[in-house]
Amino acid sequence: MTEAILLVGGKGTRLRPLTARTPKPMVPAAGVPFLTHQLARARAAGVEHVVLATSYLAEVFEPYFGDGSALGLSLEYVTERDPLGTGGALRNVASRLYSGPDEPVLIFNGDILTGLDIRALVATHTASGADVSLHLTRVADPRAFGLVPTDGDGRVTAFLEKPGAPEEIVTDQINAGAYVFRRSVIDAIPAGRPVSVERETFPGLLAEGAHLQGMVDSTYWLDLGTPQAFVRGSADLVLGRAPSPAVPGRCGERLVLPTASVAAGAKLTAGTVVGEGARVGAGARVTGSALLAGAVVEPGAVVTDSLIGAGARVGARTVLSGVVVGDGAVVGADNELREGVRVWCDAVLPAGAVRFSSDA
Ligand code: GDD
Ligand code: MG
Repeated sequence: MTEAILLVGGKGTRLRPLTARTPKPMVPAAGVPFLTHQLARARAAGVEHVVLATSYLAEVFEPYFGDGSALGLSLEYVTERDPLGTGGALRNVASRLYSGPDEPVLIFNGDILTGLDIRALVATHTASGADVSLHLTRVADPRAFGLVPTDGDGRVTAFLEKPGAPEEIVTDQINAGAYVFRRSVIDAIPAGRPVSVERETFPGLLAEGAHLQGMVDSTYWLDLGTPQAFVRGSADLVLGRAPSPAVPGRCGERLVLPTASVAAGAKLTAGTVVGEGARVGAGARVTGSALLAGAVVEPGAVVTDSLIGAGARVGARTVLSGVVVGDGAVVGADNELREGVRVWCDAVLPAGAVRFSSDA
């Protein structure tokens, strides 16, 4: 049986909310909780058993995904009492795996949207006989990631997590957050204490002479770490640029969930999603944005590259660009908010309160 571990815990995931009472993996992207896309892609690649390793609020995942059967998966949940780090989380779920010691186990960071050919990563792993195989991608600025230089055969020569010193920026190849581990390598991670797979396990394995294989793949790849990236990812799912079998509808300029309502003359483009029960008024223009369940965009509003939280309201003629409006918040009519503004959950901005000005 092909199995996978999905890492959805850690400190940052909940403490840096998008909008959001909901933890990030459960915030809808293209109409369904983000995690659904990762689970559905894993299933499509032949994965049957997934262990969700989390360090908080397993109770938000389980009521939604249950035993996984709706996705054709067998799904289990393991919650750490205190976050164990990426490596500690893997070791902590090792007893749930069915694979034999030499069999491959897939591992996914829970905040990545990618078109990775998962079967090809497993095939590379098997063909090379590696202990661990890593999906690598190239980025313009690798500093916020794990840098992974490889030799001419794709064999990993070093693993440098978020290097600070300029001389450590030795490659633009980064760890894309999808691995295949030989099962026995997971069992060998120390138990009962925090371990970082990036800072401890990978460098340790390399020092011991283990075989880490990189597979550079330039398919769609996005780390959803920031709200702006999350909005981008949702739009790319709707547009079909980011492939996922879990998008609930046909890909195109917009995705309007069946219970949403869009007035005649409203214009929805560039991968906009209108969530369950959300409403868009006449003459509104919504571009590349995600309106979560029950959100309201009133007539004449112009919303671009923004995330409008569950039950939030954008007043008539208000202009938003690159903004996150928290769940339940109200931005009154005739406001103008731009790049990077976050309106906290349930906050209320009166009509005509803020305009943006670039003049001196
Ligand atoms: N269960 C559990 N417990 N999961 C954890 C823990 C933990 O203590 N800590 C982190 N995770 C999960 C996160 O939920 C996330 O899905 C994944 O592990 C990676 O953690 P992040 O905190 O998002 O790390 P990052 O984005 O700074 O860096 C990682 O991802 C980059 C690619 O986006 C590293 O793996 C980098 O090397 C990589 O380049
Ligand atoms: Mg991350």
